[in-house]
Parts: sequence; structure tokens; C-alpha cells
Amino acid sequence: MKLPAEVTIYEVGPRDGLQNEARQVPTPDKIRFIDALVGAGIKSIEITSFVSPKWIPQLADAAEVARGVSRPAGVRMSALVPNRRGLDTAIASGMKDIAVFLSASETHTKKNVNKTIAEALAAFHEVVPIARAAGVGCRAYVSTVFGCPYEGDVDPARVVSLVGELRDLGVDQISLGDTIGVANPAQTEDVLGQILAKHPAEALAVHFHDTQGTALANCLVAMQMGITTIDASAGGLGGCPYAPGASGNLATEDVVAMLHAMNVKTGIDLDKLVEASRTAATFVGHELPSKYLKAHLGKQARARRRAEMGS
Ligand code: HMG
Ligand code: MG
Repeated sequence: MKLPAEVTIYEVGPRDGLQNEARQVPTPDKIRFIDALVGAGIKSIEITSFVSPKWIPQLADAAEVARGVSRPAGVRMSALVPNRRGLDTAIASGMKDIAVFLSASETHTKKNVNKTIAEALAAFHEVVPIARAAGVGCRAYVSTVFGCPYEGDVDPARVVSLVGELRDLGVDQISLGDTIGVANPAQTEDVLGQILAKHPAEALAVHFHDTQGTALANCLVAMQMGITTIDASAGGLGGCPYAPGASGNLATEDVVAMLHAMNVKTGIDLDKLVEASRTAATFVGHELPSKYLKAHLGKQARARRRAEMGS
């Protein structure tokens, strides 16, 4: 099987995960979670969003989180930024990487950032050059690439053209979002094929939500087509509050376990990652969907019971 030797996991749990939780997670818990993920060897991590607290109250403590995390050399920490105000606060809070975001469908863009696609692009044209001049790295997301919760099917030609506009703008990487987790492997091959006919795999990342259990299969297709950055969320936390039906992201443990089993390197310590997710499950107050995490915790519980019975 044609696979890359190494894959970069772009961890989005502290942002995409926690933005969707009903419970307001205390800032120190978020910082502990991020530090634990970094301790597990994650080198790219989206830690929060500098968006309106009226829209995403869960991440209203973005500046405190950004100032509170340890930033070891070699770890890239990023945050979502929707406008100039978000960029200024992000930079003032010590962020060296940001991510801008829009959707391939008009209705989701409007529901998510209260802008048309053209207006969202205009905001990027303001934010990205200022960020770059300040030496801040820029990623861009295109959401609803494989389907929109409001409009249904999305024309891949529209995604190809948006990717072109974002590359012309000079962003470092474009992450292709299956926001509501509807993509299947055949569709992934078709849509990525159309994008890759015009744009290099190195410019792209994939961001699959796992609503229907197809995220791992879609990632496998993407890797076979040359994509080597995969977004994932510890424990499978996640979802977009402005995308009805969006459930958790592909779980970091699940993809890392699969990659390691296939001898694809990630640089991540799976046991430490599981511990980070275990901590997250306690502060969000519910079980997390990751299959690997559940299997691992079940194994630990059975071993504990055996030890208790033996003692
Ligand atoms: P708006 O209401 O159109 O704009 O929101 P506004 O300028 O009138 O701002 C509303 C209020 O927010 C004002 O406060 C602003 O000052 C304030 P007020 O005057 O009413 O007291 N405000 C801000 N505060 C802090 N930081 C800021 C900021 N900007 C304005 N940066 C806006 C427009 C874009 C701000 C809003 O729609 C917003 O914040 N949206 C964010 C939505 C979001 O974060 N969604 C989830 C992330 S996207 C996602 O999950 C998908 C992804 O994972 C990929 C995938 O899965 O496909 C990335
Ligand atoms: Mg997402």
C-alpha cells in the first residue's frame, strides 16, 4: 500500500473540541490539557479561537489560554481568527500562528461568521498580509467541502477555486473540512482528485469530522493521494456549533494508532495521548467517542479488576 513515511497530526481538540462542549471548561483545565498534548509529542496544535465571545462563549478565555500555555521550541500553536480584532488580540497574546476560516457554501459561511464568502475573503485580504508582515504563520480552512448542513451538495469546482484564491493570498496551508462528517472514501478520492489536479498536496490538510464513522477511511484515501497533514481531535472531541449535526472530529488516538500499526511515523506517544484525553473526559464531564481510547480504558479497568481479585 502506498503510504507516506511520516504524517503530521494537527491537533484541534482544545479549539474544535472545546468550542462545542455544553460545559464551560475552566481555563486552568484547558491549559493542563494543552500541556499534556504537547507532552505527548504533538507538534502542531490549535489551542483556541479569538472570535466573538457572543458567538463562541466556550472560548471567551482565548487570551488567558494563549498566555498560560508553555511553548516549547518546535511546537506550533495556532488559533482561529475571524477578523482584524481577533488578529490583534491573538498577536498581543503571544500567538505566532493563526488560522482564518470560511466555508465553500454561502449559507454555512453566513451562519458561522455572518458574512458572505466574498466578505469573508475580503476579511482575509485584510488579516493575512498584516499577519505575514508580523511574521505570524497563516493557515486557512475551507469548511463544508464535502457537504453543507443547509445546502446539501457542494460543487467541488467551487472548492478548487477557493483553494486557488487562498493560495494566491499566501496562506501556508489550506485545511479541507468535512464539517458535518458526510464524506465517504469514493467522494474523498473524487473531490481531492479535482483539487490535486490544480494544487499540490503539500499545500493541503484534511479535516474530517467522524459523524458517520468514515473519517479514518477518508484519511487513508487522502494519504494515498499524497496528503501528509491530518487534523484530529484528542478523544474525538469536537463539532461546529453553527453546523447542525456536526459531531466530533476524527479522534487523534484512532488515527495515530492506525498509522503506527502501519509503520507511519507521527512522533506521538500514544499512551501519553490517552492520558491527555482521559483528563479531558473528566473536565468535559462525559465519555469521549474515540474507539482506541475506549478500548484502552476498558483494558486498564479489566487489568485493575484482575489485580484486585488476585490481591
Ligand atoms: P458579527 O456579529 O457579525 O460582528 O460577528 P460584529 O462585528 O457585530 O461583532 C459582534 C460582537 O462581537 C461585537 O461585540 C464585537 O465587538 C465582538 P458588541 O459590540 O456586540 O459587544 N467581536 C469580537 N470579540 C472578540 N474577538 C473578536 C471579535 N469580533 C467581533 N475577534 C464574527 C462576526 C466573525 C465576529 C462572529 O460571527 C464570530 O465570531 N464567529 C465565529 C464562529 C466560530 O468560531 N465558529 C466555529 C469555528 S469554525 C469551525 O468549527 C469549522 C472548522 O473546524 C473546519 C471544519 O470543521 O470544517 C474550522
Ligand atoms: Mg471542524
